[in-house]
Amino acid sequence: MNSNLRVLFIEDSENDMLLLLRELQKGGYEVEWERVQTAPDIEDAFARRPWDLIVCDYSMPSMSAPQALAILQKSGLDIPFIIISGTIGEEVAVSALKSGANDFLVKGKLARLIPAIEREMKEARNRRERKQAEDMLNRQDEELRQRSNELARLYRASESLLSGAMTNLTGLASTIVLTVLREFEHSNCSLLLLNKETNELERLAIEGPYASQVKNAKLNLNGSGLAAKAIRSGHIINVPEVTADPDYIRNWDAARSEMVIPLQFGNEVIGALDVQSSEPAAFEANDERLMTIFAERAALALERTRLHEQTLRQVERLSSLRRIDFAISTTFDLRLLLNIVLEQVLTQLSVDAASVLLLQPGIQQLEFAAGRGFHSRIIESTRLKLGEGYAGQSALEKRIIHIKNLAEYKESFIRNELLSKENFATYFAVPLIAKGEVKGVLEIFNRTVLVPNMEWLDFLDALGWQTAIAIDNALLFEGIQRSNLDLQLAYDATIEGWSHALDLRDKETEGHTLRVTEMTLKLARSIGINEDQLIHIRRGALLHDIGKMGVPDNILLKPDKLTDDEWVIMKRHPQFAFEMLQPIAYLKEALDIPYCHHEKWDGTGYPRGLKGELIPFSARIFAIVDVWDAVTSNRPYRPGWTREKALEYIRDQSGKHFDPQAVEMFLKEIHID
Ligand code: C2E
Ligand code: SIN
Ligand code: SIN
Ligand code: FE
Ligand code: FE
Repeated sequence: MNSNLRVLFIEDSENDMLLLLRELQKGGYEVEWERVQTAPDIEDAFARRPWDLIVCDYSMPSMSAPQALAILQKSGLDIPFIIISGTIGEEVAVSALKSGANDFLVKGKLARLIPAIEREMKEARNRRERKQAEDMLNRQDEELRQRSNELARLYRASESLLSGAMTNLTGLASTIVLTVLREFEHSNCSLLLLNKETNELERLAIEGPYASQVKNAKLNLNGSGLAAKAIRSGHIINVPEVTADPDYIRNWDAARSEMVIPLQFGNEVIGALDVQSSEPAAFEANDERLMTIFAERAALALERTRLHEQTLRQVERLSSLRRIDFAISTTFDLRLLLNIVLEQVLTQLSVDAASVLLLQPGIQQLEFAAGRGFHSRIIESTRLKLGEGYAGQSALEKRIIHIKNLAEYKESFIRNELLSKENFATYFAVPLIAKGEVKGVLEIFNRTVLVPNMEWLDFLDALGWQTAIAIDNALLFEGIQRSNLDLQLAYDATIEGWSHALDLRDKETEGHTLRVTEMTLKLARSIGINEDQLIHIRRGALLHDIGKMGVPDNILLKPDKLTDDEWVIMKRHPQFAFEMLQPIAYLKEALDIPYCHHEKWDGTGYPRGLKGELIPFSARIFAIVDVWDAVTSNRPYRPGWTREKALEYIRDQSGKHFDPQAVEMFLKEIHID
């Protein structure tokens, strides 16, 4: 049994039709059929149901087979069309086949009907299959065309990433959104980055013809909005009609559709590309595919640039700390140090102004020490008690104080004149602590609100420590210098006091010590002895007879010649001086004169009998000056000599008591006077 056959007969004679029907049934077909005779009925039959075969009488009262064929052709249906005719006319048959009929049969010879139908059905099937194959080919072709189009778009897009990759992060972000926009009309595109510390979505770039109409809503990973949703899920979101979506945040009045593509790096979603269009359903499946691949590359480029920037920043900050370190190790000038520190603070932390307040320990008050970036000089008059104002609090409580926006704390900021002149927004007070003690406060000011990240805060901390060390070092050095100076002054006062005491005891020699000291210095200077040595010569001269402290009054003040025994004691005074001064390190280099001023060039002096150049040079000059002043002065045991007599004596003693060269110098000097 053959399958079902749905046959439309176009035939005026019912008998003829039944004849044909019987023939078909004989051929094994189960036939469903209808018979029509007019054009409207034919069209109606076509519309009502599908047909496998049309059998049409060649000539009928209402129409002809070619007319019926024309209706079929107009309908676009592919149904085998067989013409049946009572008479055989070659011309008729030819014209029927020419007009597109599939076969032509004569009513008396229907034996050909079944083979004709089978052939036609098969051919129709073939035609259908061919058509399906063609359609499929066309579809594949279209798909291929689309794919290569996408590849071309992707290629263009990736190219822009490569060229933008090594610029900075914001530059790269705007390259990315501009690339996305090349693909879509009537759209805005934002690049949102997830801040892992705050969970905020930061809009790194926004572009598009209507970008200025977009309200910059605060977006948070855990908040509403399609962007947050896409980042949370890690999946692309494509909303054809945003006005109907409950997750959509209305931030652009004209928005109709939105596509958010997560930016994924490894397993982490680092942000999203957010494209909004003023047209509904602006984004198609192939856009999603394209953007997904593009976003993968964009995320890679962003991450690479971010790392690169971070590394650069770290290197810069490290070398900035090194610069401060170097400054600390090479200079003790506190102002200079603080200026170097503040310059690093401004450039490395990218802030507008900074100052250092130093704690004055005695009065427990913070006072301005250095500042940079201020428009006015008001900061310089800063004086805050410990605990007063934010800076004072920071020092007292030893903690960083951060005011995000000073405008909101106007009342509590004591220096409000500073505030109104400089328009500062963000403020930081960092206590400067060295060895557990607060040395001062580092203040940071920014004219716009500054939202720091961990990295920035860490560096601020490091700068605080470094500054504290710098201050501690410089103050320590200043302290040492000061106590050195103090000590020096104290010593010199002591020395002068001693020699003065000696003069008081030995009234007759009053003024002798100061006179010989002055004269010796003058002589030494004219010889060209350098200043470093002069200080020791001065001290030595002042102390030259300090050993007489050990000589009893009855000998020292004796108004007559000394006995031999008395001389023994008197001659001990240089040795006494040595014993007295030698333990004082500070006076080591001043010992030569007190110890050696009674040695003689020819070796007959005391206490050691040194000869010639073994006697220290300063002692050789001093001896001349000492004798000159002694013999020209009155003594209890003899009156003072005249100048001439004294000069004669000095000349006479050249090469005996005195160094001949030193005598030359002395005489030259004395004649200038
Ligand atoms: P002075 O009075 O400061 O004297 C210092 C040196 O000047 C003496 O060292 C000596 O070289 C020289 N000089 C001082 N007066 C004379 C003088 O009248 N004639 C000569 N030729 N040279 C004189 P000298 O001799 O080692 O004496 C050391 C110190 O001993 C003197 O310091 C003085 O305090 C004391 N002295 C020296 N002679 C006498 C003396 O006859 N009677 C007393 N009471 N004391 C004397
Ligand atoms: C945006 O403000 O660009 C994103 C809005 C959204 O999350 O839908
Ligand atoms: C501060 O508050 O730390 C600065 C002092 C002030 O309030 O003016
Ligand atoms: Fe002496
Ligand atoms: Fe003397």
